Amino acid sequence: MATTARSLAAFSSSISAASRASRAGPPRASIGAAEREQARRLVAEFDPAVPLSSAVTPPSGWYTDPDFLQLELDRVFLRGWQAVGHIWQVKNPNDFFTGRLGNLEFIICRAANGKLHAFHNVCRHHASLLACGSGQKTCFQCPYHDFGLIPVKVATWGPFVLAKFDDDSTEDNVDHIVGDEWLGSASDLLSTNGIDTSLPHICRREYTINCNWKVFCDNYLDGGYHVPYAHGALASGLQLQSYETLGDHNFIGKSLKDSEQVQMEDIALCEGVQRGLESPAYSVGRYAPSVEMAMHHFHCLLHANLSL
Ligand code: FES
Repeated sequence: MATTARSLAAFSSSISAASRASRAGPPRASIGAAEREQARRLVAEFDPAVPLSSAVTPPSGWYTDPDFLQLELDRVFLRGWQAVGHIWQVKNPNDFFTGRLGNLEFIICRAANGKLHAFHNVCRHHASLLACGSGQKTCFQCPYHDFGLIPVKVATWGPFVLAKFDDDSTEDNVDHIVGDEWLGSASDLLSTNGIDTSLPHICRREYTINCNWKVFCDNYLDGGYHVPYAHGALASGLQLQSYETLGDHNFIGKSLKDSEQVQMEDIALCEGVQRGLESPAYSVGRYAPSVEMAMHHFHCLLHANLSL
């Protein structure tokens, strides 16, 4: 992966050159008809109409089948708005960061004039990546033969930077509608309860976890069921009745340290679950009805998205 930081042209001029070029359009579906049909059969094996108390979880194929994952990428991740970063990562002119969603590479950057932009991080000539990591650049230029960039729709909501990879409309500033499009009625609830631009960005850590993405989501959605068993230190230190969040330096340092420990414990749990899901001895599980309501709701929402 090569990065060049040539500053022969102003960043803004390379933005406008890229904007003149045609948009990429919606990402191409990379799943064949037969595979899609097979994945849809797997979707239908979960029945969201069964009440939580007697429901079984989605079958293990939801977590192990490559065609199912491709259907999720097509139907969930590459449709609509996706949170890709924090506004402080592109706070200043010429700030940029890169990311990857499935097999889709992207760049988020702020031009010298302050305008936010997003691009596919792949050259339209011979597919070279244009940038990696994060930092400051006044110009993105392909290290290979100097072709332009393919733009992506970008917006901000509260502290989040959002990208939409299937939108080739020409409307420029969509910040005023993104909250409704992304979160629906929850946008007001969240913004009036502290999810706003005042939330600071302290640091970013990346972890590679050998499990399906839903295993990690499920782990967060079990209503704290696993906390007393798997996170002993966290459970003993949490006083939920008097819990408060203060921007104090020591508090932040200790939180980051504690969070690292919890993360390592969760990674071990999730990787163990993934191996279990791949075992022929397991097919479906059950919910703990008094605590795993959010996990069931998540599976029902995903079922609805994949059934469209
Ligand atoms: S691969 Fe980018 S210009 Fe040739």
